Amino acid sequence: MKKQLIQDAIKESLDNVARLELFNAYLYNVAAAVAKSAGLFGIALKFSRESDDEVQHHRDVVEYLNQRGCLFVPGEITAPVLTDETIKGLITAAYNQEVLTEKAYIELGSLALNTGVHATYQFVHEVLEHQTASVGEYADLIARIEQAATNEAALLLIDQEIGKV
Ligand SMILES: [Fe+2]
Repeated sequence: MKKQLIQDAIKESLDNVARLELFNAYLYNVAAAVAKSAGLFGIALKFSRESDDEVQHHRDVVEYLNQRGCLFVPGEITAPVLTDETIKGLITAAYNQEVLTEKAYIELGSLALNTGVHATYQFVHEVLEHQTASVGEYADLIARIEQAATNEAALLLIDQEIGKV
């Protein structure tokens, strides 16, 4: 049996972010389906790709746990709920989820730093680089969608654009 090289509190926090990444994958798959049924094919494609990325993020955390002598403990994943199925609503839901995920990693990073677990801090630091990029990208998309306001033709063009990114 492998020797656990990190404290229980950090291990639990890593399990939580690994589950959060799986929830994110689930959320983006649901968002992709909602977008597709509404005829927003560009956004549907983007969310499908995002969902794949989230599964990879989950695997990255599980792999890091393995490197530290730990086994990921699975937990229940709740069903995602999307209350606003407009273009702006879907992108805003993604933005909020990325901000929430960023917060979870920041908390984990602070815990690692405050307890002198530099290897975990380094891992979190690398994750935060793409996490901040993701938050920024969704914020940009919201700004662009707000430019179109309620102009349906403009929103459909933005949907097309999003699918190409
Ligand atoms: Fe992620």
